[in-house]
Amino acid sequence: MDLGIAGKTALVTASSGGMGKNIAHALAAEGVNLVLFARSADTLSAVAAEIAQKHGVKALAVAGDMRVAADIDRLADVLQKECGGPDILVLNTGRAPNPILAVLDETDEARWNEAYQTQLWSDILVVKRIVPLMLGKGWGRIIAITSASVKEPMHNHSLSTVFRAGVTAYMKHLANEIGNKGVTVNCVAPALIDTSHRSGSAAYSAADTEKRKKLTPLGRAGSQSEVTGTVAFLASMQAGFITGSTIQVEGGMVGALV
Ligand SMILES: NC(=O)c1ccc[n+]([C@@H]2O[C@H](COP(=O)([O-])OP(=O)(O)OC[C@H]3O[C@@H](n4cnc5c(N)ncnc54)[C@H](OP(=O)(O)O)[C@@H]3O)[C@@H](O)[C@H]2O)c1
Repeated sequence: MDLGIAGKTALVTASSGGMGKNIAHALAAEGVNLVLFARSADTLSAVAAEIAQKHGVKALAVAGDMRVAADIDRLADVLQKECGGPDILVLNTGRAPNPILAVLDETDEARWNEAYQTQLWSDILVVKRIVPLMLGKGWGRIIAITSASVKEPMHNHSLSTVFRAGVTAYMKHLANEIGNKGVTVNCVAPALIDTSHRSGSAAYSAADTEKRKKLTPLGRAGSQSEVTGTVAFLASMQAGFITGSTIQVEGGMVGALV
């Protein structure tokens, strides 16, 4: 299926590795030019070079921190100059602080602040500076990566669930306000996606990975491409009548009927 988005430009935030990088590749495979944003300048430049070489699209790396307004201003200036603003905005973010804790043990104000800054305020900073650049184009797609915890809170994930729910509410407001500009706004809510790209304390142990597979009727973890394919679909022409929605990619973990 031709998604009809070849030649568009997408900004993908938090895209030096993991899901953000894979989303950038998936859009580039559809002929979309990329602007990548994350803190690790060298890694980000290498990802941009890899994308340009593999998919034959333009790929630009802008190094910066999503929590820092001056960095987002610099990103906006680059986007304005390069393409007058992106057509597609994918709001991926960093993760909540580790380790995960039970809610009554989650007492450290610094961890709450970090979770808020990383997952919610960073999205708001990007939206308030970048989305105005998209509104004069008459067409646009905004897709935020949240978590299936907004539908069914996962054990010990309050630091994530609270702010992903905030992102979901913020995106719903945005969808209502800018739909008349031809811009759709949706969320993709993953859970139990393979994170073997990460190593060290952030990754799940082999035993935990086995346990997590049993949380879904499918009995397996989701693949990165099952998330990136959903994002690419929401960015497509065919998804033009979907807005203000959340699409879960969680293998049936969520028990709710709708
Ligand atoms: N895997 C799942 O099942 C699942 C479920 C629910 C939600 N999620 C969410 O999906 C997102 C992606 O997951 P992942 O596994 O790909 O995470 P990851 O491997 O930890 O990658 C996170 C990316 O975010 C960037 N980043 C972190 N903080 C940043 C900041 N302040 N400013 C700019 N970039 C920043 C990192 O690059 P730099 O270090 O270079 O900045 C990196 O590219 C996370 O928010 C995660 O919580 C995943």
